[in-house]
Amino acid sequence: MEYQDIIANYGDTPGGIIQAFHAVQKKFSYLPEDAIVEAAKVFKIPVADAYGVATFYSMFSIKARGQNVIRICESAPCHIHGAAEVVAALERELGVPMGESTGDGLFALEFTECVGQCQATPVITINGKPYFDVTPAKIPAILAGYR
Ligand code: FES
Repeated sequence: MEYQDIIANYGDTPGGIIQAFHAVQKKFSYLPEDAIVEAAKVFKIPVADAYGVATFYSMFSIKARGQNVIRICESAPCHIHGAAEVVAALERELGVPMGESTGDGLFALEFTECVGQCQATPVITINGKPYFDVTPAKIPAILAGYR
């Protein structure tokens, strides 16, 4: 399904632009510029306002990024329990620094705030799915599931 069809699905939903952006991002892993312009047309708002929505919410990315978005919680409880070691292991395993995507377009590495799972720190999420009590040793097996 192309982004035009995805956005059109929400055209009649009040406030549907956010849902449309979620659906587009789910498919493309980010919000392409053309999709933002298309959403402005469908929801009959200025393009600047559509960009405003796309850039206001931290869960949206307007930058092309890897298909599987890995987020590492950097809030205090995760930090205390070894998030930095997990970050180092991910960067080593994927060969890119935080904030970047792998050359094959498979993974993106991002930080996030607390994801509400502080009972099992450190926590990472991949495409929103949480992994608990993550250690550097667990990283290769976790990533293997997405390769
Ligand atoms: S601090 Fe990391 S999940 Fe809450």
